[in-house]
Amino acid sequence: MIRRSAGLPPRLLTAHGTTLFVAPKSGELMHGQVGDSPANARLVSDGAHGQIMYEVAGSLRPIICRTNRSEILNMDGEEGGQEDATVFAIMDLSNGRVALKAEGLFLCAEPDGRVTLSRTACATWESFLLAEPPSVFQPNVLRHSNDLVRLAVKHGVDKWGSHWYAQHYHNHFSPYRDQKLSLLEIGVGGYDNPNAGGGSLRMWEEYFPSAIIHGIDIFDKQPHERGRVKIHQGSQFDEDFLRSVFKDAGSFDIIIDDGSHINAHVIKSFEVLFPLLSNNGIYAVEDVQTSYWPEFGGNSDDLDSNGTIVGFFKSLVDSLNYEEFIKPNYQPTYFDKHIVSIHFYHNLIVILKGSNDEGSNILRNNERV
Ligand SMILES: C[S@@+](CC[C@H](N)C(=O)[O-])C[C@H]1O[C@@H](n2cnc3c(N)ncnc32)[C@H](O)[C@@H]1O
Repeated sequence: MIRRSAGLPPRLLTAHGTTLFVAPKSGELMHGQVGDSPANARLVSDGAHGQIMYEVAGSLRPIICRTNRSEILNMDGEEGGQEDATVFAIMDLSNGRVALKAEGLFLCAEPDGRVTLSRTACATWESFLLAEPPSVFQPNVLRHSNDLVRLAVKHGVDKWGSHWYAQHYHNHFSPYRDQKLSLLEIGVGGYDNPNAGGGSLRMWEEYFPSAIIHGIDIFDKQPHERGRVKIHQGSQFDEDFLRSVFKDAGSFDIIIDDGSHINAHVIKSFEVLFPLLSNNGIYAVEDVQTSYWPEFGGNSDDLDSNGTIVGFFKSLVDSLNYEEFIKPNYQPTYFDKHIVSIHFYHNLIVILKGSNDEGSNILRNNERV
């Protein structure tokens, strides 16, 4: 028995960053970009069981889901027998998402936009986030789709689907997409298999059509070098190697650290590379959850330790305001003078470089006047 909860039932967001909707002409249940898709498919549930409903003109029509396509249930009783709408068991997944299961199969958001009841196992594309209708604030609080999300899915990159970084990267990078940039990513992927990995380099190559993309890896990744993609082999913990890559590249406008995720490595790479980043450049550090994991040199007790990634970057927050310190003769550090903002997201830190010299409205040279 389906009970309609108070208020508007939630929409369903997929791991592609898209939302389920009903194509009004064909009546087919599909998934598409949140901004472009009508908000007309909703999950009506009692918490344990639910039906996907097409909402039109204030009424709800049930959806039937099949192995090859899903569509609005024909309520007119066609010849050949009336089918039943699909009733799902709603299964809570550990990551706040749900799986929808009926007749022993999971609902799946297919890469081609169809929604099918076809999978015997539940993985990424069989998981859904229940979302309230979009508001103007949605991009800040919900996983939302954009062009980089599309490319991450296309190239099989875990910056979307496993992690949720692509939405933040798009917010930071999209104004510069068409510029002749130099982007460096530490960590090509695929570890000791030379042919494996490289998905994110290809994603950046497509996202930034005029950029040169440099990839660093400790293993040989030469097979990924092509056109605007350059490969360098060495460790992110080796200062001489990092400087030699900079010498080859000439400049870095964007640096992304997705390498070893060892705390000491990440901090060392930042200390060497941030001064080499262009003024107004962007530096990103992924997977900073290793700050809390001892096997990567992190810990979950001393959260302000300068030896952990998050602890280190937290200590730089005060740098933003160094001009307000009441400390006569204070000598600003390089980071004081060149970090203009630090963004902390779940497992991702983004640091913007610039000239941090707005000045205090009260103090002069760290003294009251
Ligand atoms: C998570 S994968 C990178 C994935 C890739 N950035 C992507 O999004 O598709 C991490 C890569 O870092 C490399 N790596 C590990 N330790 C490293 C080090 N000390 N210096 C440079 N690369 C390292 C590994 O070989 C591996 O290929």
